[in-house]
Amino acid sequence: MKKLYAVIGYPIGHSMSPVMHNDLFSFYQIDGHYLPFQVAPENLKDAVKGLKAIGAGGFNVTVPHKSRIIPYLDGVDELANATGAVNTVVNEDGRLIGYNTDGPGFLTGLKKQFASIEGKKILVIGAGGAARGIYFTLAKEKSAKIDIANRTVEKAWSLIKDCPYTTSANAFTLEEVEQVLEDYDLIIQTTMIGMAPKISEQPLKLHNLKKQAIVCDIIYNPLKTKFLQDAEQKGAQIQNGIDMFVFQGALAFEKWTGTFPDVERMRAIVLKQLG
Ligand code: ATR
Repeated sequence: MKKLYAVIGYPIGHSMSPVMHNDLFSFYQIDGHYLPFQVAPENLKDAVKGLKAIGAGGFNVTVPHKSRIIPYLDGVDELANATGAVNTVVNEDGRLIGYNTDGPGFLTGLKKQFASIEGKKILVIGAGGAARGIYFTLAKEKSAKIDIANRTVEKAWSLIKDCPYTTSANAFTLEEVEQVLEDYDLIIQTTMIGMAPKISEQPLKLHNLKKQAIVCDIIYNPLKTKFLQDAEQKGAQIQNGIDMFVFQGALAFEKWTGTFPDVERMRAIVLKQLG
């Protein structure tokens, strides 16, 4: 009998996860089927109960449920607990356990393309939910100094304060950090600035970008944001948001099935969906 897997969100129409995971279930001949469910916030508790009752193997959680779902689960792992956000739930012998594979997905993709982050000076732009997952995951590695720049600098300081792993870090406004950008080897853009349809926007100017810097953007629509175009023009190596998306999915698939899937296959499917 096929086991149900799902993604719940509100809205859920544009999710690329069903096609990506269903391709993997069929490629690895695993008896699973993955469906999108649009769950309004007031129905979240019942939806989680329902997925548990019917024995779903697991599911992904997306906006706006990533934090609100936590009280309805039977447990969460350390990173999900620290970030206060769950994107992957696994049915472990009838108990629903929440994980966060967003940050680890980003880090795995980053390491695959650029090897180690050891000793690198890192700047995270943004202090929202996505920044939290990435920052905490990087900080857990304990091998880099990670600063944050955010429009509202107080939010950047709160994030640093909340991080259970970090040792020392600085927070800047976006304007301040433009002046000291040459300090950073790796810059990670985690806000939605520059996402379609507002493709001409970018969070900050890269005049002072270090030569040979690595610049990442978690946006994948467009594939190359204005920010990444600018960075590439200045000689940086770049990475777009496809890697984070594909690797968070790969880590979820591994948790559900025990198989770490072929990420290049996943990337091709996602790129095809994006057109
Ligand atoms: P997510 O969970 O997707 O990361 P979020 O929690 O709403 O979303 O966080 C959005 C991030 O984008 C924040 O860092 C926000 O900056 P503030 O903390 O100052 O609000 C940033 N952001 C959103 N719109 C922005 C804009 N127009 N200019 C600068 N920063 C912006």
